[in-house]
Amino acid sequence: MPKLTVNGKEMEVPGGIRLSEALGHEHALAQPCAGLGRCGKCRVKVTGEVSLPCEQEKKLLSVQELAEGIRLACRTFVLGDCSVWLEEQGPMEIRLEGNRTVEAEHPAFAKLGAAVDLGTTTLAARLYRPDGTLLAEAGAPNPQGRWGADVISRIQSSMNGERAQLAASVAEAINGLLETLAKKAGENTASIDGVVIAGNTAMLYLLTATPPDALSHAPFDADRLFGEVLSGGEIGLASCPDAKVYLPRCMSAFVGADITAALLASGICQGEETRMLVDIGTNGEMAVWHDHRLLCCSTAAGPAFEGAGLSMGMTGAVGAVDHVRLEDGVIHAHVIGEGEPRGICGSGVVDALACLLETEDLDETGLLEDDPTVVCDPVSLNQKDVRMVQLAKSAICAGLRTLVNTAGLNWEKVAGLSVAGGFGSYLNLENAGKIGLLPEEILPRVRVIGNASLDGAALLLLDETLRPVSEQMAMHAHTVELHANPVFANYYTEGMLF
Ligand code: FES
Repeated sequence: MPKLTVNGKEMEVPGGIRLSEALGHEHALAQPCAGLGRCGKCRVKVTGEVSLPCEQEKKLLSVQELAEGIRLACRTFVLGDCSVWLEEQGPMEIRLEGNRTVEAEHPAFAKLGAAVDLGTTTLAARLYRPDGTLLAEAGAPNPQGRWGADVISRIQSSMNGERAQLAASVAEAINGLLETLAKKAGENTASIDGVVIAGNTAMLYLLTATPPDALSHAPFDADRLFGEVLSGGEIGLASCPDAKVYLPRCMSAFVGADITAALLASGICQGEETRMLVDIGTNGEMAVWHDHRLLCCSTAAGPAFEGAGLSMGMTGAVGAVDHVRLEDGVIHAHVIGEGEPRGICGSGVVDALACLLETEDLDETGLLEDDPTVVCDPVSLNQKDVRMVQLAKSAICAGLRTLVNTAGLNWEKVAGLSVAGGFGSYLNLENAGKIGLLPEEILPRVRVIGNASLDGAALLLLDETLRPVSEQMAMHAHTVELHANPVFANYYTEGMLF
């Protein structure tokens, strides 16, 4: 069998294996395009006996890169002994904090309890004592990234026979997080007897290895909406197989239990005022509470704000340009970790476009004066990137406007908009208004609430009586269909301009 050496460590792999597969779980690369050779994000440096560059590699890699041995791991096959060098990725910035104080009213566990937010890109978790003491927090990337950045490619892989592998990979990541939490707290994972995992509908399907066929085609009627208690063992939590694991109820195929949890934490459905919530990720999930009714919807924003899909996009890890500002007409960029810039993450893209609009290097139709335009050498944005962000920002803004319109409201009547989720936490709200990601009318009343899904999961862990309340809320929510909705289509087209 050929020998594959990864960063100096040798292992044997079957001949002819795809390099991305050969790297295995330990060195799993994120594959935003699900290994289709389209995104160019699985670049690695290789020497030795591997297949010759294919057409896709010749398109995505420069002559110089190919000469230096840079290859796409998803398009390269191991033919004999070879070596690979992987760059240290550095830790991702994962939002663990919410803004909600959690009281332990009726804890759903006796010894130790864990709240988990299972996101498409990242996982975040907290460990509690039954008296509500927060013992530890931890985050990790979602390892399902190797099946694609978006849920659609993972659903496809699940339907193509990889259901068990997808479930096992995320269970392993949750196990790892629980172990980290227990270690930080000086406790044992075997003492974890209660867990709540909030995630979007697709993530809960993939975790529980539920056949996701219903999520893959119209009319997208989820045949399992959760609001269930399972045992740790049933979902592969080897570290605490007897723990009672509660999966909160989802509202529909596209508005998941993460939004149920976030709504609970935001408290917007407990008041008399009209309020809204939005979580911006690969999907923009949003809701409006008006007149004791909850309307919600989800728009496909694409992975632009999660850092994938853009020519130099990356998640918020070391080396990512995360903030950009103008000073005397000159662009200044901040890089996570203060070192060399390697790419740009969602919050950086929003800032960069707002600055380029101000300097008139970008016009209102989205045309770049220079293509590509350097943001912070060597990080740049090209015309295709701008078009992708236009589609994404317009989808989010149009979704919010459609909800307000469908509820028969205008923006003066909306008392506030809570922005939940990791991306929202790092977002410069003024710039989000400038590029048309959030409606300008509501900007003065926007509040950022951090990882509200994790806050909500903690609430459901520490106060069991909230479970039926949240399930009722999810059950009675009305999902506004955006597909073929003329109101949405109008706002979407209008919102494409800057
Ligand atoms: S090009 Fe290899 S994962 Fe996208």
